[in-house]
Amino acid sequence: MLKVGVFGAGHLGKFHLNNWVEIEGVTLVGFYDPDDAIAMPVAQKYNLQRFTDPHALMHACDAVDIVAPTTYHYQLCQAAIRMGKHVFVEKPLANTMDEARELVKLAREANIKFQVGHVERFNPAFQALDGYSLNPMFIEVHRLAQFNPRGTDVSVILDLMIHDIDIILSIVNSNVNHISANGVAVMSDTPDIANVRIEFDNGCVANLTSSRISMKKMRKMRLFQKDAYIGIDFLDKKAEIIKLNAPGDKNVFTFDIETNNGKKTIAVANPLVQEGNAIKAELEAFVKAILGNTETPVTVVDGYRAMDVAHQILDKINKTSVA
Ligand SMILES: NC(=O)c1ccc[n+]([C@@H]2O[C@H](COP(=O)([O-])OP(=O)(O)OC[C@H]3O[C@@H](n4cnc5c(N)ncnc54)[C@H](O)[C@@H]3O)[C@@H](O)[C@H]2O)c1
Repeated sequence: MLKVGVFGAGHLGKFHLNNWVEIEGVTLVGFYDPDDAIAMPVAQKYNLQRFTDPHALMHACDAVDIVAPTTYHYQLCQAAIRMGKHVFVEKPLANTMDEARELVKLAREANIKFQVGHVERFNPAFQALDGYSLNPMFIEVHRLAQFNPRGTDVSVILDLMIHDIDIILSIVNSNVNHISANGVAVMSDTPDIANVRIEFDNGCVANLTSSRISMKKMRKMRLFQKDAYIGIDFLDKKAEIIKLNAPGDKNVFTFDIETNNGKKTIAVANPLVQEGNAIKAELEAFVKAILGNTETPVTVVDGYRAMDVAHQILDKINKTSVA
């Protein structure tokens, strides 16, 4: 049995606990949360040992799950790595780029598995495209949320947009060449809405809009590539592919269009989106990587790269608002 300890039992930490108790091959040894008002009911509800010393909990487990505020990610991660423990840490990987760089170094030197909680990789709508060749030249993203004071200690870039940055970096196999960005702080001290254009060396352009002050929620990504349009709805868990028809395609329906190059058949398909719990899937993938000694699906380097782009965006926004 893999012994796991959870650090942070707040909003997201409770979702993690709910899932850990259902994952096979795992023993939950306890949790650490310094806030008595949060920790007491959690210890009771899950009948779980509350540790008051984080290092004692680390000693007692094989793997740690860090769901504490981002400012504590570095100190908890580095302590666990130095003890040779496997680490799952929520996104963003760390608070500063220096911390993130140090974690990449420490994780590489240690013989441990490290996964970052970029949970949208496990969204069933995105997973439905697994096996489909994604090679976009243009990407349009809208991630809009209603205002909630939780999470506003960081900008909308590190709070919401970083999910899309990670997904895009996982799809576009090319280096970032140029970033333009603008953002406005409306309700908090950091940008609450932002629009960003990321240009890649291979010519791909991604246009991202994130807001946490919208009236309605939306989480949509649209990929345009030479042979297809691919729509992913992360909120409603739907995927759609519209492309030129090819023999053997499994389509919902097709229709013909006359063009100057003759008749073209357009095919519309909705890849099967499985029912699924993305948090459980990411934690199970972490356990599988440990037990099978394979690479985790979202590595420390992935977490670093997403943060690096997010921080470049923040630098651009800061320069724009000063000018
Ligand atoms: N992947 C996602 O979609 C997603 C969504 C929300 C939050 N997050 C991330 O999860 C983390 C936690 O967010 P949250 O919304 O649960 O916050 P929260 O404020 O609801 O909970 C954080 C908990 O950590 C506890 N804590 C404080 N210091 C600690 C320490 N040193 N060690 C252990 N616990 C400590 C607090 O007492 C609190 O109970 C953040 O890094 C956040 O960015 C990720």
